Amino acid sequence: MYHKIPDPTQRRIEEKLSRLQDRLAMEAVHKVIEFDRTPVDLKADLDRFVIGQEMGKKVLATAISFHYRRLGRALKQAVMETGQDIDLALRKTENPKANILITGPTGCGKTYTAEIASELVGVPFVKVDMTKFSEVGYVGQNVSDILADLLIYANGNPLIAQMGMVYLDEIDKIASEPVTTRDVSGRGVQKGLLKLVEGMENTIELGRERIHLTTKHVLFIGGGAFEKLESSVKKRLTRKMLPGDWETSHHTDDFVACGMDKQLMGRFPVRVVFDRLTTQDLQDIMTHSEGSPLKSYVNDLRAWDIDLEFTDEALGEVARRAQEEEIGARGLITILHRILLEDMYRGPGTFTGKLVVDGDYVREKML
Ligand SMILES: Nc1ncnc2c1ncn2[C@@H]1O[C@H](COP(=O)(O)OP(=O)(O)OP(=O)(O)O)[C@@H](O)[C@H]1O
Ligand SMILES: [Mg+2]
Repeated sequence: MYHKIPDPTQRRIEEKLSRLQDRLAMEAVHKVIEFDRTPVDLKADLDRFVIGQEMGKKVLATAISFHYRRLGRALKQAVMETGQDIDLALRKTENPKANILITGPTGCGKTYTAEIASELVGVPFVKVDMTKFSEVGYVGQNVSDILADLLIYANGNPLIAQMGMVYLDEIDKIASEPVTTRDVSGRGVQKGLLKLVEGMENTIELGRERIHLTTKHVLFIGGGAFEKLESSVKKRLTRKMLPGDWETSHHTDDFVACGMDKQLMGRFPVRVVFDRLTTQDLQDIMTHSEGSPLKSYVNDLRAWDIDLEFTDEALGEVARRAQEEEIGARGLITILHRILLEDMYRGPGTFTGKLVVDGDYVREKML
């Protein structure tokens, strides 16, 4: 049936929607202004999702908690001075920020921890694949894409977009080869990023609208495997006969030795190394993490009245096999998928009740 809504009603609906959107936007802004989670609170929330990575969670929770508390306080002050104009306050606020650099092996929770933290704070999270940058060799279009993504994840609200987090994934892929002369990708891209991560004024054109966005308050988090970092730090420690763990003794120059630009590294002062996950960590991810891939299989199958259960032996076996894949927690998804594929295909509609997976079942499926 076709309904024509009379114009005045339509206007009323639009006004209501617009007011609702404004209210939601203001609520989101106020959440940042009133941010009061301590590093310990934030770390405790991260613990529900991220297994292991004690140092990583501690460093991230502290940096993020301080960033948003600092920003919130500065905004509050500026809003009082400018008479409620948050946009102006955002531009006036000088918020010395400390971007974060995370290194560690693949699949150990670098991106995951940062993303969960952004959800806990309630700000947009944009993940950027840095290999895109090295392919093009300059930053131009990619920067516009980042800003557009921030706006999208902020539901079109520029105020919130400017308070988001941007995760630069595989940042080590824009490293330059230290000795080659034909260095199209690395150096130029790294130099091009300096302004963006430090804070830069931008204008986005959306149809007839022009939106001003500053990255002054955006928290940038770089993540990468930096495979040569460990040996580079160890070499330096041995050469200078210094004691200490490489994980806590890295310097800017060690990143420079891996092909990173010194100035760019200077804009990522908070640095932390994430650990390789142990077999026990992998097992705990399945049983304790709120984001457990096993829990999602259990929920999915429950929707078909199938109660999936893994015995302790099966869990140990899955964790061990996942460890052998050497792709961190992503190995769990690969293994679980292989074990459960047939049951997920045939089970729904033909079987209800308990489905117990034991050690033998895992071994049989993983031949
Ligand atoms: N420590 C962890 N605790 C709980 N889940 C984890 C952990 N590490 C990884 N995961 C799970 O594995 C998935 C992949 O991890 P993530 O994307 O964080 O890897 P990464 O360290 O960023 O790796 P890469 O260097 O390849 O980008 C996550 O989405 C999450 O489900
Ligand atoms: Mg990642």
